[in-house]
Amino acid sequence: MADTRFIGVLDSGVGGLHVLDHLHRVLPGESTVYLADTARLPYGNKSHRTVVTYARQAAFFLLKQQPLKLLVLACNTASAAALSHLQQELPIPVIGTVTATAQAACAQHPKHIAVLATAKTVQWQAYPKILLEEGFSGSVYQQPCPLFVSLVEEGWTDHPVTQAVAKHYLSFVPRETDLMILGCTHYPQLQPLLARLAPHVAVWIDSGEVVAQQVRQQLMHSNDLASGNQGQREYLVTDSPRRFTELAKQFLSRDIVSGQVKRADLA
Ligand code: DGL
Repeated sequence: MADTRFIGVLDSGVGGLHVLDHLHRVLPGESTVYLADTARLPYGNKSHRTVVTYARQAAFFLLKQQPLKLLVLACNTASAAALSHLQQELPIPVIGTVTATAQAACAQHPKHIAVLATAKTVQWQAYPKILLEEGFSGSVYQQPCPLFVSLVEEGWTDHPVTQAVAKHYLSFVPRETDLMILGCTHYPQLQPLLARLAPHVAVWIDSGEVVAQQVRQQLMHSNDLASGNQGQREYLVTDSPRRFTELAKQFLSRDIVSGQVKRADLA
């Protein structure tokens, strides 16, 4: 029997739409409900406790909106802080970007990994911890890139200012790096620029495709796949739907239809 329940996707803002876009491509028949906590972003510089609180509130709110079959934490910072909490507390499977991305990185058998991420994802050692758990024994260098989110949201993905900032951040990354993890929702937008500036890096991993494939495998395994060709698409935002819809164009291959985005009050 086909399972018509929704896949919930959580992010602090628009960046998680990159993951959602891949989900739509890989699983077009699945219905999705995306919650962007735009009123409280960014998560990437908040305390661990605050991010866990926000992620829990958002997750339980989503559970009440639609019957969910699975939840995706599309935000790396939320995934770094709250994945284990939500996996314990929610009655459905929860997939987080950090674990999925770290596993995909290990599968490439690199020797020297570098992680670009928000200040907090770096501070909490989220990627090094999971890479170690996955058996990775090479070196892991982490570089916080706090300015990237604003530059991407400005649409400056190849602007001279962004080039200068990217050169600065990459100047700290060890030369021997052979695999780079783009450990934040917004950074895949900068991959062409970053790859140009760091041509010696052989493999670039971003969460979008990786998470979408993991969701597909999970739903196949639990026999919970939907059967139709085109699922429903719902978007909930905690701040202005207009700003979200405008920014979303950068992250989604199909524009959001007006009326699909609704304001949500988590409190
Ligand atoms: N979504 C966040 C992440 O992937 C980036 C934006 C923010 O700091 O809220 O870490």
